[in-house]
Amino acid sequence: MKKIGILTSGGDCQALNPTMRGVVKGLENLLGDVEIYGFLEGYKGLIYGNYKKMKPMEFSGLLAKGGTVLGTSRVPFKYLDTPTEDGIEKVPAMIKTYKKLDLDCLYVLGGNGSQKTAYRLFQEGLNVIGLPKTIDNDIYGTDVTFGFQSAIDVATHAIDCIYTTAESHNRVFVIETMGHKVGWITLYAGVAGGADVILLPEIPYDMKKVYKTIEKRQKMGKKFAIIVVAEGAISKELAKLPKKERKQKIAERPYPSIAYEIAKDIQDKYPTSEVRVALPGHTQRGGNPDAYDRVLSSRFGAKGAELFKAKDFGKLVVFRNNEVTAIPMEESAGKLKYVDPDNQLIQEAKTLGISFGD
Ligand code: F6P
Repeated sequence: MKKIGILTSGGDCQALNPTMRGVVKGLENLLGDVEIYGFLEGYKGLIYGNYKKMKPMEFSGLLAKGGTVLGTSRVPFKYLDTPTEDGIEKVPAMIKTYKKLDLDCLYVLGGNGSQKTAYRLFQEGLNVIGLPKTIDNDIYGTDVTFGFQSAIDVATHAIDCIYTTAESHNRVFVIETMGHKVGWITLYAGVAGGADVILLPEIPYDMKKVYKTIEKRQKMGKKFAIIVVAEGAISKELAKLPKKERKQKIAERPYPSIAYEIAKDIQDKYPTSEVRVALPGHTQRGGNPDAYDRVLSSRFGAKGAELFKAKDFGKLVVFRNNEVTAIPMEESAGKLKYVDPDNQLIQEAKTLGISFGD
């Protein structure tokens, strides 16, 4: 009987469970009975040999369930060769666990850092298959990751809820969405939620442009405004600084996050206006997968199982040009998929009058 390891790594998302379900159902149907070793809390489980031997049946009923039944944690790639606090060498320990259990394959459901580690394990000789998870949609090589669509839905719902109260009270709302380095959630939720201004990490903003949009709305008789900002958005002034200095300035910022700084600037500029901040925060990773993610996860799971049957290891399952396929892990590992400022959706949003603060 084939022995399969599986783990979920990094920040969670809504579609980890349905993707595991897809893999396991696919394996069962293609190969018959399989033994599953579910590693607990991501790579930590592989390092410490902390796992659950599971029956395929245990992955049934997970299609609509958010979170991860295996638990997750972050084991940062940049410290992969630094021993754990208790002195364990991480990579050799992971290889040891894999070999001790005599696994035929390890499935890694994770984002960028986790996939880099997966590729490293493949280079070390393990049979590894990657599945692209993250609400941020920033994994290079795939048009979409599982979790992204559900996160957009949550963020859009948050904007919808704010929209009505902003309108009732004639307030300016600054809504901060997740995305430190990339602005995919912000872009899509911003457009879906009817934002007036969308600020992304990839397009440094100028507050004068934000004011211009607020004033334009006022002239039109619209006394409220919705500004959706990614947590990693930066001003043009900050963008000009060398990386180290920029990081320093951000660390020293006297606000809990960027939305508060932007709200303060707007309040100072228009003292009689009522300006408020709203943060959907981790709700964007929570709740259950939406219909799109359930389908995508099922398709990714099926592809993951097919790769195993074909003994096609060292691959990352991806979605490209409306098709599920797989690419060599090295094509994606270590690269981020940023929002291109020339992206068609941005151009269309600008045509509709949405400001990106540039
Ligand atoms: O990895 C996705 C992500 O949701 C980012 O968008 C966000 O910045 C980060 O995780 C938050 O991480 P944590 O769970 O450590 O607060």
